[in-house]
Amino acid sequence: MLYAACLAPVLGIAVEASRRIKVNVFVCSQERAIRHNTRALGDSLLITGASQLLTLGGRGPRRGSSLSNLELIEDGALLVRDGLIAAAGTRGQVEALPGARAVDKLDLGGRVALPGFVDSHTHLVHAASRAEEYELKIQGASYEEIARKGGGILNSVKRLRAATADELKKRALAALQQFAAHGTTTIEAKSGYGLDVASELKILKQHKELATEQPLDIVSTFLGAHVVPEEFRKKADGAKRYIQLLEENLLPTIAEHHLAEFCDVFCDRGAFGAAESKRVLQAGRQWGLAPRMHAEQLSRSGATRLAILLRAASCDHLEHVNKSDIRALGKSETVATLLPGCDFHLGWKKYAPARALIDAGAIVALATDYNPGTSPTLSMAMILSLACTQLRMTPAEAIGAATINGAFALRRDKQVGSLEVGKQADIAVFEVADYREIPYYFGVNHCWMTIKRGRVIHAAKESRN
Ligand code: NIG
Ligand code: FE
Repeated sequence: MLYAACLAPVLGIAVEASRRIKVNVFVCSQERAIRHNTRALGDSLLITGASQLLTLGGRGPRRGSSLSNLELIEDGALLVRDGLIAAAGTRGQVEALPGARAVDKLDLGGRVALPGFVDSHTHLVHAASRAEEYELKIQGASYEEIARKGGGILNSVKRLRAATADELKKRALAALQQFAAHGTTTIEAKSGYGLDVASELKILKQHKELATEQPLDIVSTFLGAHVVPEEFRKKADGAKRYIQLLEENLLPTIAEHHLAEFCDVFCDRGAFGAAESKRVLQAGRQWGLAPRMHAEQLSRSGATRLAILLRAASCDHLEHVNKSDIRALGKSETVATLLPGCDFHLGWKKYAPARALIDAGAIVALATDYNPGTSPTLSMAMILSLACTQLRMTPAEAIGAATINGAFALRRDKQVGSLEVGKQADIAVFEVADYREIPYYFGVNHCWMTIKRGRVIHAAKESRN
């Protein structure tokens, strides 16, 4: 099927006689985007007109000074075949390829194109916002005080248990559409607001279903060890008995039905200690789930050292790491994932030491931590703005951290995170003339188009062209 012919009815795209595609009006409802994405692949597409094409090609993951290496091509072009990148280069180079003739064409009109964001830390499935706690926090209550009184994560657990699968799915689908509209093409999604067998499985099954019902890739993580649920807190040895439930009941079922790829633990004050976390992560590994951790968010718990010891894919947050943690991360393959949306939303002044981590050679990634308690945003561009102003990362470093390093954190760096031959054609196009304007303009979404596996899944309503 011709690419243009396939797009026209879906996105209101006018196909000109030259078979050049021009985006006019955005009429892409969620259902249409889903339908569009499920069409059989087999098309070729020539994309030209990127004033700056950030390919992020070359060796990944990025450490130290290489984090700012965007492999920027001016007047860049891409050739896409069967949803994969077939060529990347200047317009002249790509147009000269024999395979670039007689294909459908998409002109980006001088905008900036980069790999779709890889958001490597989200709590996608939850039932409701916690706006009432937001107000309490503004009035002086602390995050941990609210949690001790049964609010916080337990508040979200109560609401999720009461919600139907349909309600949860509707909310998650709406969020996924927004992720796409903000330039994100791959997300990680954690369970952790169920905390009993039925409710945790309800979330993980949603991850699996959502992955087939909409275009974004979803990487599923089991976070049964988020906190000890209410009903176990009243029992003697409650934490131990809850961990036994995870080991004996949940993990075998998750493994049997392939419901998660990673196992995460919130290792911190008020959640799980280092010894408990180790036990859960080792059990997860026995069932084939690779470890990752919530580490040093509220206090220094030793989680970073444990993550490195267990060769975890990532340890995330890191506001309270010390110098020796930073040195150790610099020598390890465990990604240091920074989540500045949390500190911003909670009004905390202590952000993770991004500069020291980069200088030590750590693999630094950025993610939204989209969740109702500490970071209710799904905009990676907003996270880039915070990374620049609060973490003192340069725009180029922030983009590397949000793409290729995020992909490495999810062990998807062979498929996504850069625009290189053989990888998925996952592309975010921003209505800016210079990539530094992506974090520079904050609070407004300038994502003009998002392409997943060569398919347009979001196109902005208005265009200046
Ligand atoms: O990543 N730190 C633990 N988990 C989430 C917050 C969960 C919540 O407050 O609902 C986080 O910040
Ligand atoms: Fe989190």
